Amino acid sequence: MAPPQRLTMAATASDARIVRPVARLRGTIVPPGDKSISHRVAMLGALAEGETVAENFLPGADCLSTLAILRSLSVESALEPLPDGRIRLSVRGMGLRGLREPADILDAGNSGTSLRLFSGILAGQPFLSVLTGDASLRSRPIGRVVEPLRQMGAQLWARDGDRLPPLAIRGGALRGIDYATPVASAQVKSAILLAGLFATGETRVHEPAASRDHTERMLRAMGADVRTAGTSISVRPPTEPLRPLRLRVPGDISAAAFWLVAALVHPDAEITVRGVGINPTRTGIIDALHAMGGQIEVRNPREEGGEPVADLVARSSRLRGTVIAGDLIPRLIDEIPVLALAAAFAEGDTIIADAAELRVKESDRIATTARELRRLGAEVEERPDGLVIHGGTRLRGAACASDGDHRLAMTVAVAGLLAEGETVVEDAGCVNVSYPTFWHDLAAIAGASSA
Ligand code: S3P
Repeated sequence: MAPPQRLTMAATASDARIVRPVARLRGTIVPPGDKSISHRVAMLGALAEGETVAENFLPGADCLSTLAILRSLSVESALEPLPDGRIRLSVRGMGLRGLREPADILDAGNSGTSLRLFSGILAGQPFLSVLTGDASLRSRPIGRVVEPLRQMGAQLWARDGDRLPPLAIRGGALRGIDYATPVASAQVKSAILLAGLFATGETRVHEPAASRDHTERMLRAMGADVRTAGTSISVRPPTEPLRPLRLRVPGDISAAAFWLVAALVHPDAEITVRGVGINPTRTGIIDALHAMGGQIEVRNPREEGGEPVADLVARSSRLRGTVIAGDLIPRLIDEIPVLALAAAFAEGDTIIADAAELRVKESDRIATTARELRRLGAEVEERPDGLVIHGGTRLRGAACASDGDHRLAMTVAVAGLLAEGETVVEDAGCVNVSYPTFWHDLAAIAGASSA
């Protein structure tokens, strides 16, 4: 497809892509809509009364799984392209009591957010549903939502001692609980809060550290009584119908992160990423890169759809190693693979700790990130709860596996812009999970720069 010399990326016959280094990186990227917010606007819109409309909805495979599950629950939605190429979602809200028993199992595909958040919603429904997913999702823990939802009064069954999907749920009358989650997980917190919409009395969740708060913000915007005190969040069942939403989904900071890191570690780069969500529960990546000496400017801060948004400008920087641990981890959990790549270019060591959750993401991201970065020549040690990266080695292109993990595939693609020679990214199509236009954006930024 691509003429070999000028373009930095080429498609191969199999589902693999080749990435080559470029001398300069310049340009502007408008990242896709935020994945977490896109899921929530569809699910919560379904529970409102009236039509919800969201521009810049992410049409990635994960969010399409959410829409397919909603369809099986008798919720109609439509996707329409806008003149700027973005997508508009409309969802016909059915109200809190409007979902219908699905005729078949519900397939969440690769999407942990669909699986966990729907568990909470379905626990409150007076019918039987069965949630499953692809091989990766079926190996990811579900016990963490089974336990609190059972305490609320739902009946749940899962595989391997109630640890793994598929998950069968017979929902019904729920009671509010006061629950301390052992993990800082927005998916677990959201599942409990969503079940709380259908429970009697107050439902309260205490987290060990703050996780992303998009569910709370959106429910409040819809009129629900949701309160936050530090890392404790409570919800009461609404007495009025939830109001439908009209919003523009902010750009996904987890997608923007690839371009921020590409610009910082490249010797001749300046990349602007426009319209990025900078909710403080998500900006750990900016804080960590700043702490490493990265030049990232936050410009034009504004608010869209109840979420803070800004343009980010990143330039070539000399990075130094740092320690990434504790409460920072949930604020950058999805960015750790690409942060580990940044650390490979930094002077000195970077220690990533308290991040054992990475082992139960789309792949075991501690193992797969270490393996792929090493394959490219980086010095990386694996720890039970993180990584130690000894920065400063030169990366050499290699044939890299992605294990079907979208964030790993995009991390090695960015590495390919810097590594000597050719980098092959296997199973490159998996980027569709969260960033369907990733390869197009990579070609644009690299192609424009090498022209
Ligand atoms: C998400 C929460 C995070 C994140 C995932 C999306 C969400 O998972 O890794 O990509 O939308 O709530 P955990 O909260 O389980 O860590």
